[in-house]
Amino acid sequence: MTEDDPNYRYIHEIKRESKRCKKIVQDLLSYARTPRPSLELIDLNQLLAQIADFAANHTDMRNVIIDTDFTPGLPHVMLDGDQMRQVAINLILNAGGAMPDGGRLIIRTETVEGGRVEVSFIDTGCGIPQESIEKIFEPFYTTRERGTGLGLAITRQIIEQHHGEIAIESAPGQGTTVRVTLPIEHEEL
Ligand SMILES: Nc1ncnc2c1ncn2[C@@H]1O[C@H](COP(=O)(O)OP(=O)(O)O)[C@@H](O)[C@H]1O
Ligand SMILES: [Mg+2]
Repeated sequence: MTEDDPNYRYIHEIKRESKRCKKIVQDLLSYARTPRPSLELIDLNQLLAQIADFAANHTDMRNVIIDTDFTPGLPHVMLDGDQMRQVAINLILNAGGAMPDGGRLIIRTETVEGGRVEVSFIDTGCGIPQESIEKIFEPFYTTRERGTGLGLAITRQIIEQHHGEIAIESAPGQGTTVRVTLPIEHEEL
């Protein structure tokens, strides 16, 4: 079909909205059944580098510069690689969504006290008002026109299943930092 066909616009909308349905269903399903993590020793620097590359092509990352600041020789961590990819992609795209006019995202890895590694996602986006910080983890809470509000709910669920923690600090108008902390060693989950 050519662009001047009278039906072109409708087909285009059907396509776009079908993609949106697919996203909602996918998000719902992964929220409803996050399987028990299947643990492997993972090099988080390598996993995050791959995901940062992959996410850079997403439209939400237009005009966003992604910088990585990885601690060399970061200890490998027992985790579910696929689930951690999903966590990273959710947090990277949230940062992109907060910077529609461009900005900078730093992804940092480091070891912290208590035998843990910490991954930080530091953006220069719109920030989150103090009164909303409590709500953003709730399923279906979204401020984005095309959001499902499930990203952070899924993310928190995955991190908790790994006995990790997620913390958010934000200064409206300046940016947001999301910190994910994970134990390096753990018992069977
Ligand atoms: N890095 C961020 N900067 C600003 N706001 C954010 C950021 N991450 C999340 N949020 C806020 O939290 C809400 C919920 O995020 P999420 O659960 O991923 O759902 P969605 O991305 O579908 O809106 C977003 O709509 C947004 O208001
Ligand atoms: Mg999201």
